[in-house]
Order: sequence, then structure tokens, then C-alpha cells
Amino acid sequence: MSRHIFLWLALTLLVAGVLSFPHRAEKFTSLAHPRDAKESYDYIIVGAGTAGLTVADRLTENKKTTVLVVEYGELDDSPILSELQAWFRIQISQPQFFYNITSVPQPSLRNRTFPLLIGKLVGGSSAVNAMMVIRGSKQDYDQWGAFFGKSSPWTWKGMLPYFKKAVHFTPPVPALAPTIPHDAALWGTTSGVHAAWPSFQYPATLAQVDTWRGMAGVNFRPDSGTGLPGLYWYPTFMDPTIAARSYARTGHYENVRRPNYHLLTGSKVNKILLQGTKAYGVKFTSVANGVATSIRANNEVILAAGAIHTPQIMQLSGLGPERLLKSANISVAVDLPGVGQNFQDHLSLSANFTYLNFDFNPSINSLAQNATFRAWADEVWAANRSGPYSLAAGNVGPWLPFPVISSRHQEIASRLSAQDHAALLPAGTHPTVIAGYRAQMKAMVASIRDNATAFFNMPLSGRPTTTLIANLHSLSRGTVNIDPQNPEAEPRVDYRALSNPLDGAISADILRYLRTYFGNSANAPYQPVEVTPGANLTSDEQLVAYIQQTMRPSGHHPAGTCAMLPRHLGGVVDENLKVYGVRNLRIVDASVMPMVIGANTCLPVYAVAEKAADIIKAGK
Ligand SMILES: Cc1cc2nc3c(=O)[nH]c(=O)nc-3n(C[C@H](O)[C@H](O)[C@H](O)COP(=O)(O)OP(=O)(O)OC[C@H]3O[C@@H](n4cnc5c(N)ncnc54)[C@H](O)[C@@H]3O)c2cc1C
Ligand SMILES: *[C@@H]1O[C@H](CO)[C@@H](O)[C@H](O)[C@H]1NC(C)=O
Ligand SMILES: *[C@@H]1O[C@H](CO)[C@@H](O)[C@H](O)[C@H]1NC(C)=O
Ligand SMILES: *[C@@H]1O[C@H](CO)[C@@H](O)[C@H](O)[C@H]1NC(C)=O
Ligand SMILES: *[C@@H]1O[C@H](CO)[C@@H](O)[C@H](O)[C@H]1NC(C)=O
Ligand SMILES: *[C@@H]1O[C@H](CO)[C@@H](O)[C@H](O)[C@H]1NC(C)=O
Ligand SMILES: *[C@@H]1O[C@H](CO)[C@@H](O)[C@H](O)[C@H]1NC(C)=O
Ligand SMILES: *[C@@H]1O[C@H](CO)[C@@H](O)[C@H](O)[C@H]1NC(C)=O
Ligand SMILES: *[C@@H]1O[C@H](CO)[C@@H](O)[C@H](O)[C@H]1NC(C)=O
Repeated sequence: MSRHIFLWLALTLLVAGVLSFPHRAEKFTSLAHPRDAKESYDYIIVGAGTAGLTVADRLTENKKTTVLVVEYGELDDSPILSELQAWFRIQISQPQFFYNITSVPQPSLRNRTFPLLIGKLVGGSSAVNAMMVIRGSKQDYDQWGAFFGKSSPWTWKGMLPYFKKAVHFTPPVPALAPTIPHDAALWGTTSGVHAAWPSFQYPATLAQVDTWRGMAGVNFRPDSGTGLPGLYWYPTFMDPTIAARSYARTGHYENVRRPNYHLLTGSKVNKILLQGTKAYGVKFTSVANGVATSIRANNEVILAAGAIHTPQIMQLSGLGPERLLKSANISVAVDLPGVGQNFQDHLSLSANFTYLNFDFNPSINSLAQNATFRAWADEVWAANRSGPYSLAAGNVGPWLPFPVISSRHQEIASRLSAQDHAALLPAGTHPTVIAGYRAQMKAMVASIRDNATAFFNMPLSGRPTTTLIANLHSLSRGTVNIDPQNPEAEPRVDYRALSNPLDGAISADILRYLRTYFGNSANAPYQPVEVTPGANLTSDEQLVAYIQQTMRPSGHHPAGTCAMLPRHLGGVVDENLKVYGVRNLRIVDASVMPMVIGANTCLPVYAVAEKAADIIKAGK
């Protein structure tokens, strides 16, 4: 046996040992069977994901409060979930962790369909995501609050305490601390969910950061948490002591074993039990054998099934757009026209800019190509879980506002302002939902004009080829509706990508900006070439045609389908996250974001859930 294989074996045993330990004790609160559940709980939470487990943890801090979390998936102990390096492998080759949902064909994208990635296990999407910890722009949150008026608590200022509460921050190791700007004052140290740093970065990543220093309007920020667009470093959802993924399961379930906190897995919630317009429990069926069970909630039912399934459960319960429910023969308990509408995600643009001369040693390829380097990586990992294997998806990148990337921001803002917004939503959309869209586009007009909102992101991770580019503010709105012919099946997910034609224009400008950036003199030594779109595509028409062929309408950040907005703007929940027109029912997950923030959504969801828990505890 080579020394190499031996090290790997030792490593595997170490990982298995470290990671399987907590699971033994946890049976304490995971019920083996629905009959082990109590007849009623104070709160029933639907979905043991990012938001659900956060709220469950906080509510059960009071020993007298009983909580049951009902989850479709299982407690999955696969070691790959904890491996920091495995984030991409999970996405491309581990379908067992995800729901099997594909969007409807997108006419503006050549009728292509798109599989969705949504975690189907305890921990939800936090168990399978790329672990990037980012909070977005101040203005994103201030716009949420502005829909309710000046005194709303849903502003950047109102969120800041919850960004701090949501994660336990550990600064970079001393060797890297000078390289990685960070400000511990913007972070907290009390959560069970960790935000920390790999103990290694490739030299090429630092070189890529340097290529941005001369770019006009690109401000280097002292931390990812300032709320200002610019180039900044951001941490990883990882527990630094064991260099493993830190997520809702490890941080809000395994570490809090309480007799008043019960979890029931393998159980699909079909509907909310309503007596008139009062929620009093949930009905769920066993995924294994289809047996149905109903359990009562003394205080509240709390939905945390994520932006795709929360609207589905609402609609199946008779809470949704009247026309849709009638077409599916579901009797309407409360006509809530916004449920399943206002669907948003980030746009993933495709481009390929490749450096011909990007010769760094070690490079991201060294693990595969250089036995000496790999032996060192194995050794430091085995010694103290440091080195290259502690790196996940990367920790730095520019997050830039539209005026910095495009000189026609005024023109595009004016065109957005002049649009017939009703015509851009599906026929038959309720007037209140149209009014909400109009209000959102008014906010977006401001965001396109000023320098306060990030529209563009490109992660830097030391690779010679750049392919991941995000448009962080789609102006199109999609739908997530039950299929009237088969309401219990997965919902029909329609991104309605590029239904607002300005998304094409903005995305085209993003691609043009890549040309500006790669043409910047700091990149010259690395000899960048544009492989795609290809320098011969220059007009809006050509670039949009390319985008229609190559764009994905998702960054795995679905949001907005049960929006927190005033009811006259198509809102589904109020500022206390209570569902309009229903007593004892709240929503706490990504579906409440009225507009998806311009950043990855995990930390924002944790923060929303932390805030929700405080609202509930305060009896609001
Ligand atoms: C592949 C991928 C990569 C990502 N990368 C990042 C990243 O790097 N950084 C970042 O910030 N964000 C990232 N995200 C996004 C982020 O993880 C999500 O926005 C966030 O976790 C959503 O939280 P949630 O509570 O709304 O939903 P989830 O965490 O998905 O929780 C929903 C839970 O409800 C359960 N459920 C659904 N329906 C039912 C039902 N009928 N009955 C019972 N239970 C049900 C689900 O199984 C799940 O456990 C990524 C997401 C994915 C999928
Ligand atoms: C996913 O769903 C499709 C149809 O909706 C089905 O054909 C396919 O077999 C499913 N895949 C898995 C892995 O269950
Ligand atoms: C997409 O599908 C629709 C409906 O089947 C069809 O009318 C349309 O021509 C198709 N568009 C493209 C670009 O193939
Ligand atoms: C935004 O930044 C750009 C680039 O620095 C600058 O030219 C422009 O004046 C700024 N716009 C506003 C509204 O501040
Ligand atoms: C709805 O109910 C009507 C009358 O009971 C029936 O004719 C129709 O087929 C039902 N539709 C669906 C989608 O189940
Ligand atoms: C990008 O282009 C280079 C050069 O043609 C090619 O080797 C590489 O596979 C491309 N990368 C992607 C992700 O398409
Ligand atoms: C392999 O890695 C070692 C250690 O990092 C380094 O010193 C050496 O130059 C590398 N060899 C090649 C061929 O890149
Ligand atoms: C980890 O182990 C390596 C190899 O033994 C050592 O060089 C390094 O200093 C250690 N790092 C820490 C943080 O302990
Ligand atoms: C652009 O160039 C590519 C590669 O040479 C070619 O395939 C494509 O047809 C050209 N497109 C246009 C619009 O000229």
C-alpha cells in the first residue's frame, strides 16, 4: 500500500470518526414514527431546512415551548455533505439529496427546461449549498422596508443584529489575516452555525484580486458585511475546528438536544389544517408508506418549506389565487392572489474568458497534477485539517453596481420606468400583484441609477478560466403554481426568464463589462482571450441571442413566492410574517423576500429566521 493511499485511509477514518459522533446522541429528539409524536405541540414547523431549524432552535430555548418540525427528507449522514471540497460534486452527481423538479420550458431561452436544485434532507438547502456567506447590499433591505413605510423594522439596520446573531464568526488564521480584509465588529460569535475561513488560498486568487485594483468605481471593502457594493472577501459556512460544513442541522439541531424539540423526518406535509380561517395543525403523509397523520398546533403553524414548496402547501390548503385554486377544484379558504407569484432568482450568465498565460505554482490544478503538492496537502489536512482541502467555493469577488459596469444606466432606468408593467406579467394576474410589481420596478429604477446595489458578481477562485457570472437583479417575475391536473405533484415552476426584455439589455451590458475588465492592463500579462460569447458578437441583438442560448435562469436562489408586502401590493405575509386573513399561520423562509437580495441567499435566510423567532417570542 502506497503511503498515499494509507494517508487517505487514515483521513477517511478520521473524518468518519469526527463526523459520526454527534449523530448518536441526536436520536433523542428525532422521532422514529409519527405515533411517537405528541397529539399537539405549541408550534409545528413545516420543513427542517435553513429557516425551519433556526426558528425551532430559538423557540425551544424556552423549555416550556414545545415544537415539532416535520420534514420530507431524512437525517442523511453521508460524509460528502461535510466535505468542503465537495460542494460542486454534490450539485452535479448526487441527485439523492435533491427534489426532482424541472422548470417548464422557457420560450425566451429556446424552450430549454432547467432542473432546480433544492435540498431534500434535514438541513434543507444549507446542507447542499456552496457555503458562501454573503449578506448583500444595504439598499436591498432598505427597499424591503420601504414598501411598508418609514418605520418598518425590515431595513438594513433592522437586519444587522440578526446577521450578527445568525453566525459565529472566526477570523482568518494569522498567516492569512493580513491578506484577507475583515472586520469582526460586523459579526457575532454566539450562533451554532459557523462562518470561518479556509487556512489556504491559491496564489492565483490573490493575483486575480490585484487585477481589479485599477478598475474605475471598484471599491475594495474592509469586509463583506458593510452593505456596500465593491470587491470583498467573504467567509465559508464551516466549523473551523473540524474544517467541515456548518449548516442548519449541525448548528440548530444536533447541538441543541432538548426534550421540547421534536423532529419527524420522512413526512411530506400535504396541507395546513384550517378551521374557517384559523390554522390549527398540519396533515402529512409518510414518504415510505403513504400513511396520513394529523397533528395539532396549539399556537401556530410555521411554514419553512422553501420558496418552491411553501407556496405549494399554501395553495393545496386553499390559500392562494382564487382562479388557480378553482381550476384545481380546491375550495378557497382565503383568496391570496400573491401566493406562488412574484417568483425570482438570480440569472447565471455564461461566458468563457481564458488566460493563456496564468502560470501559478501551486495552482488549482496542482492537487491533481503534482504529487509533491498533493502529499503536502494530505499531510497538513491529516495533521490539523488545514491546507487546500479546507477550501470550498472560494472567498472573494467583485459585487458591482450597475452604473459602474454600464454607461447606459440612465437610459435603461428610464426605459424601465416607462414600461407597461401589467403587460409583463401573466394574463389574468391579480391587480394587487401587478401593483406590487410596479412598486418593485420603481425601486429597481433607483437601484439601476445609483451605486448602492450590486448587480454583477464574478467569484475569483484562482482558475485560469472564468465562467460564472451573475446578474443579481432579474426584472422578470415567474410563477410557482400547482398543476391543476395533478395538484399533489411537484408544482409547475416557470421562471418566465427574460419576460422583461430589459433583463436581456442588462445582461448584455454585463457581458460587455467582462470585455472591459479583461482588457484592463492589469490582465495583459496573463493574455486573456474571449472564447465565448466571441468578440464578433457586439450588438444587443447578437448578445441577447447568445444569452437566450446559454443563460440559466437560476443561481439556486429561489425567493419571493409568498412575499412580505402590504396586501394591496400582492403581499402574502405582513411585517410580522403572518399570513393575511389567516390566524395562527406564519412563513419564515426565502419565499417572504419581496425582492431577492443581490447576494447568495443563505445568510439572509438565517437572519430572516432569527428575526422571525424574536417576533414570535415577543408575541407579535
Ligand atoms: C446547490 C445550491 C447552492 C447554493 N449555494 C449557496 C451559497 O453558496 N451561499 C448562499 O448563501 N446560498 C446558497 N444557496 C441558497 C441557500 O442555500 C438557500 O437560499 C437557503 O438555504 C434556503 O433556505 P429555506 O429555509 O428557504 O429553504 P430550505 O433550506 O431549502 O428548506 C426547506 C425544507 O423544507 C423541506 N420541505 C419541502 N417541502 C416539504 C413538505 N411538503 N413537507 C415537509 N418538508 C418539506 C425541504 O426538504 C427542506 O428541508 C444555494 C442553494 C443550492 C440549492
Ligand atoms: C424525475 O421525474 C421524472 C418525471 O417527472 C421521472 O421521469 C424521473 O424518473 C424522475 N427521476 C428520479 C431520479 O426519480
Ligand atoms: C417553444 O415552444 C412553443 C410551444 O410549443 C412553440 O410555439 C415555440 O415555437 C417554441 N419556440 C422555440 C424557439 O422553439
Ligand atoms: C457611480 O460610480 C461611477 C464610477 O465610479 C461614477 O462614475 C458615477 O458618478 C457614480 N454614480 C453615482 C450616482 O454616484
Ligand atoms: C373538478 O370537479 C368537477 C366537478 O366535480 C369535475 O368535473 C372536474 O373533473 C374536476 N376537475 C379536476 C381537475 O379534478
Ligand atoms: C473555456 O474555453 C477553453 C478554451 O477553449 C476550454 O479549454 C474550456 O474547456 C472552456 N471552459 C468551459 C467551462 O467551457
Ligand atoms: C510541485 O509542488 C511542489 C510543492 O508545492 C513545488 O515545489 C514544485 O515546484 C511543483 N512542481 C511542479 C512541476 O510544478
Ligand atoms: C498544521 O500542521 C502543519 C503540518 O504539521 C503545520 O506546519 C502547521 O503549522 C499546522 N497548523 C496549525 C494551524 O496548527
Ligand atoms: C462569430 O464567430 C463564430 C466563430 O468564428 C461563428 O461561429 C459565428 O457564426 C459568428 N457569429 C456572428 C454573428 O458573426
